[in-house]
Amino acid sequence: MVEPMLVGERMRNMIVQVCIGSACHLKGSYDVIKTMQRVIEEDDLKNKVILKSSFCLGKCSDAVSVQVDEGPVDSVIPADAEAYLKRHLEVE
Ligand code: FES
Repeated sequence: MVEPMLVGERMRNMIVQVCIGSACHLKGSYDVIKTMQRVIEEDDLKNKVILKSSFCLGKCSDAVSVQVDEGPVDSVIPADAEAYLKRHLEVE
């Protein structure tokens, strides 16, 4: 049965994948994930963002690799993780 309040609403979540491969792990993927988890909790974004870890996204030479939905693989340093997530939420 379809929930009446959900009819017509956008059901799609933003999927954020953070690489935990060895190169990204060394560059702080744990800190990126912890920061994003904190933002999701504090801003009550659990219904908007699905945060996942991922194996190598093929861009090991820069900072921590992060991919939003099917977008490009970006390089994110832990200190920019909050701003990165919020920037993507603004354009959603
Ligand atoms: S280990 Fe993260 S992109 Fe390769």
